[in-house]
Amino acid sequence: MTSSPDAARAEDTTPSGSSTPRLRPPCERLSGCQKSGVCSRSYFWVVMVFFHLYIFNVIALLFYVHYSSGQEDPNRSRDAPSGGRADSPRPPSGGEFLRDVSLTRVDGIRVGHVQKVSLVPGKVHEMRTLSLKPLLFEIPGFLSDDECRVVMQLAQLKGLMESQLMVQDGQEELAKELNLSAEEIFNLLDINQDGQLQLREILTHSRVRDGIWLTPENLREIYAGLKADKNNDGLLSLKEFRLLSSDAFQHFLLQRGVKRSQLVRNSRHTWLYQGQGAHQVLQDIKERVTRLTRLPPTLVDLSEPLQVVHYEEGGHYHAHRDSGPVYPETACTHTLLAANTSTPFETSCRYITVLFYLNTVQGGGETAFPVADNRTYDEMSLIQNDVDLLDTRRNCDKSNLRVRPTKGTAVFWYNYLSDGKGWVGEQDEYSLHGGCVVTHGTKWVANKWINVDPDYQRQARYQQLVSQLPQDESDEAPAPNADTQHSSVHQEL
Ligand SMILES: *[C@@H]1O[C@H](CO)[C@@H](O)[C@H](O)[C@H]1NC(C)=O
Ligand SMILES: *[C@@H]1O[C@H](CO)[C@@H](O)[C@H](O)[C@H]1NC(C)=O
Ligand SMILES: *[C@@H]1O[C@H](CO)[C@@H](O)[C@H](O)[C@H]1NC(C)=O
Repeated sequence: MTSSPDAARAEDTTPSGSSTPRLRPPCERLSGCQKSGVCSRSYFWVVMVFFHLYIFNVIALLFYVHYSSGQEDPNRSRDAPSGGRADSPRPPSGGEFLRDVSLTRVDGIRVGHVQKVSLVPGKVHEMRTLSLKPLLFEIPGFLSDDECRVVMQLAQLKGLMESQLMVQDGQEELAKELNLSAEEIFNLLDINQDGQLQLREILTHSRVRDGIWLTPENLREIYAGLKADKNNDGLLSLKEFRLLSSDAFQHFLLQRGVKRSQLVRNSRHTWLYQGQGAHQVLQDIKERVTRLTRLPPTLVDLSEPLQVVHYEEGGHYHAHRDSGPVYPETACTHTLLAANTSTPFETSCRYITVLFYLNTVQGGGETAFPVADNRTYDEMSLIQNDVDLLDTRRNCDKSNLRVRPTKGTAVFWYNYLSDGKGWVGEQDEYSLHGGCVVTHGTKWVANKWINVDPDYQRQARYQQLVSQLPQDESDEAPAPNADTQHSSVHQEL
């Protein structure tokens, strides 16, 4: 139901796993809840929010009793979602946090530029600029062989789960509850509003909705099977569209059978907590990432845990962005605590992605950046004449840039531009990337995302809230987006 591929995060709800950065259409949530009475994810958030509000009230009260010189904070409960919550004490600036932190951005200089960085005592790493759009670097030998081994072993010990589940039936009921007319759906899909549905408009939609990756040939096969395209011009008119049920494509696919290789991603993953008490290697990696990115340590500490991903032979991840676009209504998953809980849009706000290769892949498995340093960017030309640049099973060779997975190498890039004032700006459209199909052997990678809210006030408020939690609480708090859907609590390895 979202109509543009970037709005479309296929998954993760997580987690994104992936990142899952994902913008959930508000209606999707609503209808899920109406249907079953309790929509599990919304229900989860309600419980979490209630729990946290409760904790904050208690803490605020303690604070008040402890420090009280009797003075009222004029800003209290300014953003209490439903009243009643005493806000935590604020700095005297009237509730607005002054911008006293700015985010360093590593300077790329030019493609091919090599700079020396000091990340571990007694060793100098070389960091090479791979592209400026997105701002992307490669650091060979970032992890030692031993560190790679430990991370893979910890992940196996913890257990990995499917990164994307097969889609089940049930969308039909959802569509019924929404009660959208064929015209309404047609208009949602018709991105360029020309009154016809081009192949790419349908493809984009299906990936977003079902997590099934259709190729243009698949779609033609479906058209033929359903006799959908009566005049055979490769386009669906409203008249043709009206004759299809809203779930016709999915039914067709499920009947024919969907293979793992036809999903948006075909991998397994897990999350490793990196805070106090975690394995020393995991803590070391976090500190090294802090030094590499030159960001405030708190930001890195409060980011998602380390994600470890395993691709078997044949595994892939089609091109996507790790983070969502910035709309005024968008709330970041990691700062949800400090946001209006009523906001309908939620996305992962991952300022930086650090990707580590834990093994050297025998064949394939490159990380492709289809539009890196392209002169211009045009959403519509990503899928053209049957060439889908986002398809990493077929078209990695047409990507502008590919990084070969080499054990111990890290690459990192910025998913957002700068706002010019030292904070996060717009999403960087060029940050599109994917994992090419592994043709020989297997592939192990880890992702460290650094979460920053483009809304400075919300990030500051969130950090203030977390800093007031008791220690063990604050270690848990930062990870609300680690697979809440699948396993809400990550063990501390
Ligand atoms: C759906 O909408 C149509 C027309 O807008 C209406 O006639 C119908 O009763 C609605 N169905 C449900 C289940 O709400
Ligand atoms: C919450 O939403 C209200 C109304 O849209 C707005 O005035 C307020 O500033 C928001 N609060 C936060 C914390 O975003
Ligand atoms: C890449 O740049 C070329 C030249 O400006 C342009 O024609 C093409 O559409 C761009 N590709 C994408 C996907 O935007």
